[in-house]
Amino acid sequence: MNTFHTIKGLRDALAAERAKGHRIGLVPTMGNLHDAHLELVKVAHQHCDVVVTSIFVNALQFGLNEDWDRYPRTIEDDMRKLGSVGCDYLFHPDDVEMYPNGLVDQTRVVCPTMTDVLCGASRPGHFEGVTTVVTKLFNIVQPDLAVFGIKDFQQLAVIRRMVEDLCMAVEIVAAPIHREPDGLAMSSRNSYITAAERPKVAVLHDTLQWMAERIRAGEKNFPALEVEAGKRIEAAGFRVDYLAVCNSRNLEPAALDDCHITLLGALYTSGARLIDNLSLTLDERG
Ligand code: PAF
Repeated sequence: MNTFHTIKGLRDALAAERAKGHRIGLVPTMGNLHDAHLELVKVAHQHCDVVVTSIFVNALQFGLNEDWDRYPRTIEDDMRKLGSVGCDYLFHPDDVEMYPNGLVDQTRVVCPTMTDVLCGASRPGHFEGVTTVVTKLFNIVQPDLAVFGIKDFQQLAVIRRMVEDLCMAVEIVAAPIHREPDGLAMSSRNSYITAAERPKVAVLHDTLQWMAERIRAGEKNFPALEVEAGKRIEAAGFRVDYLAVCNSRNLEPAALDDCHITLLGALYTSGARLIDNLSLTLDERG
């Protein structure tokens, strides 16, 4: 695997790949890689000749009181893992390379409305930071496709919308959620879960499954279902950020005749905020 810290170095290497007619796939990450990230690389390989993984802990998407400074930086381990799945290029820039004019004056990419809800409601500015850095990564790498995990469902929906709205010439591929044996979705932030909390956090996934069963059985009162679901999470000892039954495409509250529904949830442990989701396709509904 070739590692580049500068935009120019990476661009020169990728120009040579493009000249050979190679298709380029991008897997954007913030490092602290786990098996779910490695699956993204494998998915990219299925579609492309050459895979670039970026590792950049993007300050622009962290709020003032969030964990940017304590976010685990595990580059040696990450490089070993990426090598084990045949990643071709690692792009690992520093803050000055990515934001030479500083954060305050950085030009931003904003996807309105769908970033104000769910995670966006409790993390103001977060998605603006994501869409801005992802746009920069797309401009730097100019990939044929980019792979994002379904675990960050709102992020995936926002990026799809950005690509559509701004006519970006990149195909977005969604990779499935990877789970621990008890159902907990894999996430870099799972390392913040305490030993005492760990046996209980699968309540988020269990609750989304329970909501899905209720909807499949004909439940139509989604707001009441969200409240009941919240009580299950609280009974396990966690504070709910949100539980929502949404239209899968625009993330608005699901209408009774929506066939593509996504259930999204977020809870707070003592040191982490965990998210998960589950999508349902329902037959024409009456
Ligand atoms: O999902 C992430 O890890 C980040 O939000 C991303 C897409 C790498 C942008 O910093």
